[in-house]
Amino acid sequence: MVSPNELKQTSVIGAGIMGTGLAITMALKGISVFLNDLTEDLLHESNKHISDLLFDLEERGSIESAAKIQGNIVVEKDLKRAVESSGLIIEAITEDPSAKRELFRKLADIAMEDSIHASNTSVIRISEIASDLRSRDRIIGVHWMNPPYVAPLVELTPSEWTSKEVVQVTRDFLEKTIGKKVVLSPDIPGFIVNRFHAAVTSEAIRLIDEGVSIEDVDKVWKYHLGVLYGIFGPLKNADYIGLDTTYLAGMYLTQRLGREMGYVPEWLIKKIGNNELGVKTGRGFYDYGNEASSSLYAKRVQAIREELECRKDQK
Ligand SMILES: NC(=O)c1ccc[n+]([C@@H]2O[C@H](COP(=O)([O-])OP(=O)(O)OC[C@H]3O[C@@H](n4cnc5c(N)ncnc54)[C@H](O)[C@@H]3O)[C@@H](O)[C@H]2O)c1
Repeated sequence: MVSPNELKQTSVIGAGIMGTGLAITMALKGISVFLNDLTEDLLHESNKHISDLLFDLEERGSIESAAKIQGNIVVEKDLKRAVESSGLIIEAITEDPSAKRELFRKLADIAMEDSIHASNTSVIRISEIASDLRSRDRIIGVHWMNPPYVAPLVELTPSEWTSKEVVQVTRDFLEKTIGKKVVLSPDIPGFIVNRFHAAVTSEAIRLIDEGVSIEDVDKVWKYHLGVLYGIFGPLKNADYIGLDTTYLAGMYLTQRLGREMGYVPEWLIKKIGNNELGVKTGRGFYDYGNEASSSLYAKRVQAIREELECRKDQK
């Protein structure tokens, strides 16, 4: 298994939007990173973007020395040279299952025997990429958000073959070294973030078809759903609404729209039958113990006020 020391040398394959951002992410944490792509031109372009961005950040006073941070990044077109000394290799190439499989196949031959191979895929199951590779116990999904040096969240997805040690070492690296919030996703298409992304974006586009303006779709998120979901998440938010009301609204929409709008599995129907309706009965998706619902609602109001206060200068 790689030692924490070996994770001080990393590689990023693919120097597009995400690969460039990932190289910056590593460099900002003082971690050496080789950045690889198919052509010198693409690497040059990425390197120029990195230096422009770092010098801009330096001018704004966000970082001390752009040159020092850039010094952690080495662009390298030769794949073997780019990966052979790294403990962690992150793939950020085109979202194409066969291209990713082919790359991981090569990595199994040319990278260090115990190195971790991470895929930044947004939606492809890790098992689909790793199934027939001899390195499959060291392949793991690490889905960074864009831009990765700013966004706090990372999704971690082991396949059925990923070893427990690889999961733990990768998680420690992300949480302790990089300082990310990590969520563990099952190896399902789209993981967690992009299942939401797909559902929300597709509903937004449907609403345009039904006559809502583009601006109003975004306004609803900016001034309402984004605020509530941002503070509580959709499940705690549903606890505040009431699971019975959520259920009834979902049923009505499903009937009128002729497609499933409220997914209600058996266990949720049971919960509602047991009077676990959310904050108003002390238990829903979450357990609120003996705290009075008035106190929980008051806390909610305070949280919303604070969030709106933070946002008040935003346009
Ligand atoms: N763009 C986003 O917001 C975002 C966010 C999270 C995850 N992702 C995921 O990250 C990955 C990269 O996305 P992107 O938006 O950076 O794509 P991109 O098109 O900007 O960059 C991909 C880069 O990979 C290079 N490439 C392709 N095959 C290669 C190979 N075999 N070896 C080396 N380089 C190769 C391409 O030349 C290109 O420069 C995808 O899997 C994507 O789903 C993207």
